[in-house]
Amino acid sequence: MGSQQRLKLGVLISGRGSNLQALIDACADPAYPAEIVLVLSNKAGAQGLLRAKEAGIATAIVSHRDFATRESFDASVTAKLRDANVELVCLAGFMRVLTPSFVDAWRDRLINIHPSLLPAFPGVDTHARALQAGVRMHGCTVHYVRNDVDSGPIIVQAAVPVASGDSEDALAERVLAAEHRTYPLAVRWIAERRTRIIDERVVIDGVDGVAPSILSPDQALLPTVLADRHVRLVPMELSHADALADITVASGVAKLMTDPLSTRESVHRWVRAALNLRAGGTSLPFVVLDAATGAVVGTTRLGNWSAGDRRIEIGWTFYAPNAQGTSINPAAKRLLLEHAFETLGCVRVELKTDARNARSRAAIAKLGATEEGILRRHTRLADGTWRDTVYFGITDAEWPAVRARLDERLGLGSDRQRRAR
Ligand code: GAR
Repeated sequence: MGSQQRLKLGVLISGRGSNLQALIDACADPAYPAEIVLVLSNKAGAQGLLRAKEAGIATAIVSHRDFATRESFDASVTAKLRDANVELVCLAGFMRVLTPSFVDAWRDRLINIHPSLLPAFPGVDTHARALQAGVRMHGCTVHYVRNDVDSGPIIVQAAVPVASGDSEDALAERVLAAEHRTYPLAVRWIAERRTRIIDERVVIDGVDGVAPSILSPDQALLPTVLADRHVRLVPMELSHADALADITVASGVAKLMTDPLSTRESVHRWVRAALNLRAGGTSLPFVVLDAATGAVVGTTRLGNWSAGDRRIEIGWTFYAPNAQGTSINPAAKRLLLEHAFETLGCVRVELKTDARNARSRAAIAKLGATEEGILRRHTRLADGTWRDTVYFGITDAEWPAVRARLDERLGLGSDRQRRAR
């Protein structure tokens, strides 16, 4: 993405600036659709100003002490933001209450991150108050700003469970880690023009249902819908078993999978096993629908989730013969990889296949995944024989290049640019 199209951010801080740093790090990726053009602090000594300078970002200090009224302070901040051509204002630990005229001037172009699951615990000392209240679930919220303190349409939330005996510091640290994943995600969605506010609720294109907005990166995977103009990946249900059996039994497309799914019963068993894994929080099985027709054309999955390692596998995939060689598979892979790297914060995504399955190996290599080696006599197949398994991997560092390649294949590059204009 060329620099012209990137959304121009102004980040307002008062202190440490660790959320600012998360945004700086996200913007360092040339494919990230936003850039920071100004960091403004109301405190001259804010550590965040040093972070900005280190990253070569313009800074401004507007001290509230220099102004007789809140209105005049806010007007001066607005002037600085306008001078820098800021398009979206991100409050990142900015500890001043803004006037209604500021909030109105930047309506729907002003967002905030807050360390609680709003509307619980607006204001300060959120972690102490959460512990005091005995909540089981705490977290953070990114929201558009309205006039009441810490209020406005919610873009994304990350839930962080409270452990028994948690200290305020320990809880704050885990919430802060969630904040650092959440803020860049919310900014990305806005920069990609995917958010709309309807009746003061935020709708995000391509993100359906509740799961991604209760992003729980350290915990179990949560079922979600992933969609673009080619495909819709919807959480697998038992009711999909017949449609999947219609595909595998007749065509034999799953014959090189661990279970060839050659009978209807075996497909039903396989779907039930998938749903059990999902209930355990380690797997997200999807059926793949053709976006144009709504027909079930196959299945794919994120599985073997290792939360501590931030590692996941894409696999358990098959498609109906008429969907093979179309945009369906690359589009589904793009959505799964995006979910893995950008929502779940993965550092590694694995793909593996039977070493004899040349077609599957070629398809994985074409994604830009690195072939990492063959594990011999690795998996026992349904017929009792042993297969050698070839492992591929994509790391977080490689993801931008893989994404660019997939966008190219899917013709998304030009789409995004059109939308950004
Ligand atoms: C963050 O926890 C942020 O959510 C909070 O201040 C901290 C700033 O830390 N913001 C609010 O409480 C807003 N009501 P940082 O300077 O390291 O990003």
